[in-house]
Amino acid sequence: MYKRKVRKIKKKPVIILCSTIIFIILVIIGINMGINYYKKINSNEYKLEQIGYTLEDVNIIITLDQDKIDNILSREYNKLIPKLIKEKYFMWNNLDKYISYYEETKDDNFSHLIALVNVYANYDYYDEDIVHDTDLSKENLILVNKYHKLNSDFVPTEITSIPSTYAYANNQASKETLDAFKNMWAAAKAEGLTLIVNSSYRDYESQEQVWNKYANIYGEEYADSIAARAGFSEHQTGLALDIITYGANGSNFDETEEFAWLSKNAYKYGFILRYPNGKEDITGYSYESWHYRYVGISAAKEIHEMGITYDEYYAYYVGE
Ligand code: DAL
Ligand code: ZN
Repeated sequence: MYKRKVRKIKKKPVIILCSTIIFIILVIIGINMGINYYKKINSNEYKLEQIGYTLEDVNIIITLDQDKIDNILSREYNKLIPKLIKEKYFMWNNLDKYISYYEETKDDNFSHLIALVNVYANYDYYDEDIVHDTDLSKENLILVNKYHKLNSDFVPTEITSIPSTYAYANNQASKETLDAFKNMWAAAKAEGLTLIVNSSYRDYESQEQVWNKYANIYGEEYADSIAARAGFSEHQTGLALDIITYGANGSNFDETEEFAWLSKNAYKYGFILRYPNGKEDITGYSYESWHYRYVGISAAKEIHEMGITYDEYYAYYVGE
């Protein structure tokens, strides 16, 4: 009888201790679950899913900075947003423009839509509200196109006559462009090919004459597809060269070995084909197999490898 009593007395504290431990464990588990739940409902992932984004969408959106995610969270669900973000040349500041241009055009080729908006091609050519002054601080990387203009009195520094070995008469270019062209010319020559500059630096007034001539013959719309209006031509920069070979002209230059050679090698000397075939809606000009733009070797190499136009490259890597 006495023995049993002792056992009972000893058992009680063990039970109390065990119960306390279990209670503490349960409390800890409960707190943990609470914390986890709180964390979950405050996570970007949860909030985005609540708006309607799929797990795949969420994984794309959360690659953005927090302020941008907050911006998306403040909007209604939009199926376009993750599709746009995952494009290589997506630019956050253009998000609303991409969305409204999509609403207008229903162009579901998103890389194309993004390229057009990035270069302002969603606006009319020469739209006065959109045209910027060319940012001259970019030097060899300046952009001149239908939305970026030069003043009528802009003249490049170190404008240099191109010797007759390299060009038809009365051609000039910036000294750096000419030096690069001489190197390229020599490399082509070593392979039995001859490059010749057909047209190069044109001042504001000469460009005006070129455009007026075409406008008088073909009308303004067609003139705009083949020539720049004064102030909007790369030829005023001294960085553009129209290159052909003897016996060729603009319409057949791309059938020559010289053209094939330039397509493979021009970037090594800092030149890019400025108005490629198939990119007319981005550049604003018909294909010009002869118009090369000097941008320097490192940019030319990148542009060549990326396979994009200079307008796109400038918008994403150089511009304002
Ligand atoms: N042909 C080119 C676009 C120019 O006139 O500058
Ligand atoms: Zn040209």
